[in-house]
Amino acid sequence: TALFGVIGDPVRHSKSPIMLNRAFGETGVNGAYAAFHVKPEQLAQAIAGVRGLGFKGLNVTIPHKIEVMAHLDEISEGAKAAGAVNTIVNDGGRLIGYNTDGIGYVRSLKEEAEPDLAGKTIVVLGAGGASRGILWALAQEGPKAILLANRTEAKAFEVASAFSPDYRISAIPWEELQAACASADVVINTTSVGMSPNVDAVPLDPSWLKPGSVASDLIYNPLKTAFLRQAEQLGCRIHGGLGMFIYQGAYAFEYWTGQPAPVAAMREAVMASFN
Ligand code: ATR
Repeated sequence: TALFGVIGDPVRHSKSPIMLNRAFGETGVNGAYAAFHVKPEQLAQAIAGVRGLGFKGLNVTIPHKIEVMAHLDEISEGAKAAGAVNTIVNDGGRLIGYNTDGIGYVRSLKEEAEPDLAGKTIVVLGAGGASRGILWALAQEGPKAILLANRTEAKAFEVASAFSPDYRISAIPWEELQAACASADVVINTTSVGMSPNVDAVPLDPSWLKPGSVASDLIYNPLKTAFLRQAEQLGCRIHGGLGMFIYQGAYAFEYWTGQPAPVAAMREAVMASFN
């Protein structure tokens, strides 16, 4: 049996075991996946355990996504750009760190809302870890522009300046957000505004978006945020955050097994676990 797991603190609410064990069952892969509660001071030992026990793969969640990088043998380009690792592949004893959050998000956006991002104008709201995680992956799609706005403006400028100009990621002041949304094809909320329990809050005025454009939210609790509900009523296409979770797991499965992930079954397993 090939061993897999997720480490985090806290980790008991993780839906990854349900999702990945279903994926193994569905494809006949002889694998087992469990959640491990690892505190920050235990991180080094946990990674040593992965090596010692010969785990084939590991997911990494909050608060370890940044610190874990120091314990790995190689970091992928996307993970370097995101500044975070959420998926480790044990390649014959070499631990390689990837970031499947960003590419998982983009795959979900393309599958569920906007198949072609090339030449599009994308507004990204928020400049925290989640934002940084998706920017590199969005830039790979060849958009016309990625405009980054954040309540604390300096952070948006700092994050944008970490990318080469070829990526077409630029920070904008908050006061330009309304005009940016009016010309955007996709507007993405990466902030925590609207997350349970503050489900009535919106990160920006949805009436700024143009009808027909895509409103996307990384939040998946609730599945449909107030931002998405209001944008939908105003004629936008909407995209929620659950797909990002499903597809980051799908990419991890694919990196570990070399097989296409059974995405529909994985989504069904997660949905069935919601109550
Ligand atoms: P995450 O890893 O989820 O991105 P984070 O790194 O703490 O978490 O970033 C949170 C993001 O949500 C930031 O962009 C933050 O804006 P600031 O940099 O100004 O703090 C944004 N955010 C959180 N609460 C917000 C609020 N009430 N209004 C606007 N932005 C908010």
